[in-house]
Amino acid sequence: MPQLPKPKLRPATVRSALGHPPPPPARKPLLATRIAPRESDNGISPQEMTARRRKFLITAGGLYGAFLVGAYYWISYGVAQGGPYEEAKPRDTTQTYDGLAKQYDRIIGRDELFMGLSFWRKDVAKQATGDVLEVSCGTGRNVSYLNISSIKSITFVDASEQMVEQTKEKFQDNYPKYQHAQFLATKAEDLPLDKKYDTILQTFGLCSHEDPIYVLMYLQDLLKPGGKIVLLEHGRGTWDFVNRILDKSAASRAEVFGCRWNLDIGDIVRKSGLVIDKESRSHFGTTWTIIAHRAGDVIRPEPKKRFFIW
Ligand SMILES: C[S@@+](CC[C@H](N)C(=O)[O-])C[C@H]1O[C@@H](n2cnc3c(N)ncnc32)[C@H](O)[C@@H]1O
Repeated sequence: MPQLPKPKLRPATVRSALGHPPPPPARKPLLATRIAPRESDNGISPQEMTARRRKFLITAGGLYGAFLVGAYYWISYGVAQGGPYEEAKPRDTTQTYDGLAKQYDRIIGRDELFMGLSFWRKDVAKQATGDVLEVSCGTGRNVSYLNISSIKSITFVDASEQMVEQTKEKFQDNYPKYQHAQFLATKAEDLPLDKKYDTILQTFGLCSHEDPIYVLMYLQDLLKPGGKIVLLEHGRGTWDFVNRILDKSAASRAEVFGCRWNLDIGDIVRKSGLVIDKESRSHFGTTWTIIAHRAGDVIRPEPKKRFFIW
């Protein structure tokens, strides 16, 4: 039998045929008016506006960063002009840092703000877990970035007593209830070998050591099996013009700050026998972040890490 087409009844007709009251008029959805993309007066959708704003902020941020780094090196270049080039000789810097301790944060803080170094400090400080040794702790500039709940014990060491005193004050201010911290005024290479560590952290220390290769070799004997050494250092860059500036001013910088800022950090780390797991460089290659372990150790898988590079 051929199928007859069904009569087209509108829902309202069906409802009235069944004796139901007509449905209430459809209400305008309240949220929809807010969520639905609207075109602004100049015909740009809000999504496109957000994308443009983001692009603008990224470009402006990049230009600003490049300007700051450029200005920083330009000023440093100015400082480098004049005196003849002399090699910065390795030396014991304890007295220099004893003398600098009280002004160190003020002087270094300005440079670090310029370079946005707090991001790098945060990145390495959060790697400190288990039994931690911070070598060349200075005035404790990493203290506030530590993830203290992941730290079983922490030992701070610096050759300069005046510097380590500042670390102690900062640590006690930040973590007044923490019971497992120790503060030692001694050279890293004189530490007793009986206590071993999961993480050894050092920031901007190699430049100030008399024999940085030897110190790194010694530190390996302080690692627990599978432990890691986390370094944030400054040294030679990846650009010739930057290295020329660093070389030219290395001797005068070392004289005032005790630090040799033109060292090849990668070369030092490799010569110490450490195996590098991660290495990243920023600020024209002058800021080095390195995570390394002792040769022959079995390494625990690390969670994915992100380093800032610019
Ligand atoms: C440039 S400061 C860095 C301080 C700090 N880590 C920071 O990130 O600001 C270098 C520090 O290394 C320390 N130092 C130099 N030789 C050392 C050694 N052999 N053992 C332990 N500390 C040393 C100095 O006393 C100084 O406090």
